[in-house]
Amino acid sequence: MNHEQHTLLKKLLESYGPSGNEEKIRDIIREEIRDYVTEIRTDTMGNLIAIKKGSGKKVMIASHMDEIGVIITGIDEKGFLRFSNVGGVSPYVSLGQRVLFQDGTLGVIGMEDLENMKDLKLNKMYIDIGAETKEEAAKKVQIGDMACFYQPMAVLEKNIVSKGLDDRIGCFVAIEALKRIQSSTNELYFVFTVQEELGLRGARTAAYGLNPDLGIAIDVTSTGDTPKAKPMAVELGKGPAVKVMDKSVLCHPIVKKMMIDTANQNQIPYQLEVLEFGGTDSGAIHLTRSGVPSGVLSIPCRYIHTPSEMVSKNDVENAILLLTKILEKPISI
Ligand code: CO
Ligand code: ZN
Repeated sequence: MNHEQHTLLKKLLESYGPSGNEEKIRDIIREEIRDYVTEIRTDTMGNLIAIKKGSGKKVMIASHMDEIGVIITGIDEKGFLRFSNVGGVSPYVSLGQRVLFQDGTLGVIGMEDLENMKDLKLNKMYIDIGAETKEEAAKKVQIGDMACFYQPMAVLEKNIVSKGLDDRIGCFVAIEALKRIQSSTNELYFVFTVQEELGLRGARTAAYGLNPDLGIAIDVTSTGDTPKAKPMAVELGKGPAVKVMDKSVLCHPIVKKMMIDTANQNQIPYQLEVLEFGGTDSGAIHLTRSGVPSGVLSIPCRYIHTPSEMVSKNDVENAILLLTKILEKPISI
């Protein structure tokens, strides 16, 4: 990673963007790519759509801007905030974490005294923003406000650790590929989607509106390479993964083959992925109108939906390379 990439990735990862609150991320991405595309717009849902015009097939590339978070459901007399999840948030993972609100208010997640830790549920937990009364808290936070994990990006020798790698790393890969593509006859729609963590909502309307010939989502996937992990053939650092199936999509054989062939032709390492839980934007894209052949390019990631998600720098670079090569080739389906 060069200095500019480091700066961009840090900005993308550390910025606030729980589902439905993607404005900051959208602004960063728009500024970053505006000089590289023919047209750029935001749709009704909030998806950022950047177009590289071409005469060939219409390809939609989707990476989601939103991250998981919490939503305030109540404020008690002593100024403690009750909350619920926005997307997949585990109570165990959240305990002791710091969360950040849109206006910069910082909170700490605590829990009630419990006999048994197995009883830990989000409704036994609260956020402490240092307020002493309901009125004091209400000046800073209202019912319905969202917060996301607060953690700086850390770059290790081989890996990157951060909150929000799901799916800002996908946004980063799409941005870098978009910049590197020299020429392509395909018409490319880079869509930075909203509300993926709530059920692939942004991708659904964007795909309907754009009516693409082919869809590719860029997102993180799990790995099976940690102690006593749920068995899975994907490992960190062994290359980006070509998805075969997850809970939302069975990838189209043409798209899968195109990804594999391109990787082989360019000597880019890759892995095949079957994810037994979770979904991605392609789950929505492939069911659009009368169906859109879709696939997913995944970035292997440990500790997904925690404040310390982890990806390999090599996998990220190879994902950028593979996506660039896929999109540069004239697509015929
Ligand atoms: Co996610
Ligand atoms: Zn994701």
